[in-house]
Amino acid sequence: MTTPTDMAISQLTQHPDETVRIRGWLYQSRSSGKVAFLVVRDGTGICQCVVEKTDDNAEQFEMLRHLPQESSLAVTGTVRIDDRAPGGAELAATGAEVIQQAESYPITPKAHGVDFLMRHRHLWLRSRRQHRILRVRHTLIDEIRSFFNRNGFTLVDTPIFAPAIGEGASTLFEVDYFGDPVYLAQTGQLYLEAAAMSLGKVYCFGPTFRAEKSKTRRHLTEFWMVEPEMAYAELDDVIAVAEDLVHSLVTRVLNDHRADLIELGRDVEPLERIAKPFDRITYSDAAETLRADDTREFLQQDLDAKKAHAAELAAEIDRMEAERQQPGLKKWKAEQLVQKIAAAREQLADLVEEIGNIPQHMKLAAEFEWGSDLGGSDETIISRRHEQPTFVTHYPKQAKAFYMYTNRQDPRVVNNFDLLAPEGYGEIIGGSQREDDYETLIRRIDEQELPRDSYEWYLDLRRYGSVPHGGFGLGVERTLAWLCGLEHVRETIPFPRLLGRVYP
Ligand code: 4AD
Ligand code: MG
Repeated sequence: MTTPTDMAISQLTQHPDETVRIRGWLYQSRSSGKVAFLVVRDGTGICQCVVEKTDDNAEQFEMLRHLPQESSLAVTGTVRIDDRAPGGAELAATGAEVIQQAESYPITPKAHGVDFLMRHRHLWLRSRRQHRILRVRHTLIDEIRSFFNRNGFTLVDTPIFAPAIGEGASTLFEVDYFGDPVYLAQTGQLYLEAAAMSLGKVYCFGPTFRAEKSKTRRHLTEFWMVEPEMAYAELDDVIAVAEDLVHSLVTRVLNDHRADLIELGRDVEPLERIAKPFDRITYSDAAETLRADDTREFLQQDLDAKKAHAAELAAEIDRMEAERQQPGLKKWKAEQLVQKIAAAREQLADLVEEIGNIPQHMKLAAEFEWGSDLGGSDETIISRRHEQPTFVTHYPKQAKAFYMYTNRQDPRVVNNFDLLAPEGYGEIIGGSQREDDYETLIRRIDEQELPRDSYEWYLDLRRYGSVPHGGFGLGVERTLAWLCGLEHVRETIPFPRLLGRVYP
């Protein structure tokens, strides 16, 4: 007898009636005395394997039907096409080999809290939901690279040990570099500016580090950022590239992952409506919008809607609790209710927290003063009021980094932009034209009390053939959270680093 071909589950539908072997992990199983259904996942898909009890396999059959979840195994069988099967094919098993019998798996179908799941992140990654998110992340990164490669940008890798502040003094991770302090890179930008003067259009793509001291749904302490930089480019040129990039990302992810997004609970309609040109407002417009009466009304309506929703959820929880207490309830039904109640409770807790924050957000918006940076809640408000991603341009100089180009018509502002994703997701890109005049840049370095000698090399770029130039940084995790419709960035990166969380 020949050994059957090893096959990825995703390939099975192309091999009807062939005898093949799949290798993976037991995802779920159910059985009767005569037949066991083993659902196996292998990273490419999931497949139900049907094992029938025969006179010869009684012992193995018993072992298989009690095999714990996540045991690793290889199953041999005949491929049967079945439209009702999860991947379109089933395996009529003729044999199975257990590679390792798993211990009792800690992540069960019952609802777990976020903290528990985070501590088991190394196992949680195996769930279908996390698997999908990782696949979309892969495609997003692939499209980012393709976009820059097909548009004439050269990849330049920038250092992670950085001797000078790149973005702001408040979020630095300091490390001991043989007795001298250096920082983990907050951005590759300054180095990219140097590379752009050699190559014209460049980009870097790597991990960046920010000692973010607050817990929010948008902040990680280690995240991935792609940064393009272009010589001979002014603000509008940079914005045009950002718009094309984000449009390509949305198109590609929708094209390749529509089914995944829907499974993740993402309403894809708002993504389908994304079209160029994106919206564009100035910081001053944004400040006015925040203070406007109709923004207050919008938030008040939002508050009322959320309160009504919370009341409905609470009533629903009571109803389910009552049903669960009923005598004679089937065990599977009771378990299902426990799960639903736990999920509803978690949703309600989130909602109550949001409701509690809205009055503060209303106050911050109403009292917003020209000159301060937009806060997270301000961005949420602006971005909920736009269907398209929105460029907010020309921020006050004092709210932004030293390297941004001072607007020569209105020197109170800089030629910069943030791109806010719609539906309340907020900033996914920060970018600007860079100050290219030596004297002006020196003044900005001094104003921000930065050590001039750390920037001597950077100043050289303004001494030897300085040209208008600019670029931006797009955060992978925030972009992915928006595309997948996730509440929090913690699920967008395989092993998130957050304030108070570096395990596993
Ligand atoms: O706006 P930021 O700070 O811009 C820069 O670092 C510039 N040097 C980029 C450039 O012009 N080359 O960060 C850019 C993006 C943000 O819009 C956001 O998407 C992401 O990086 N980001 C974070 N993502 C997750 N957690 C954090 N703590 C983040 N901080 C920034
Ligand atoms: Mg920013």
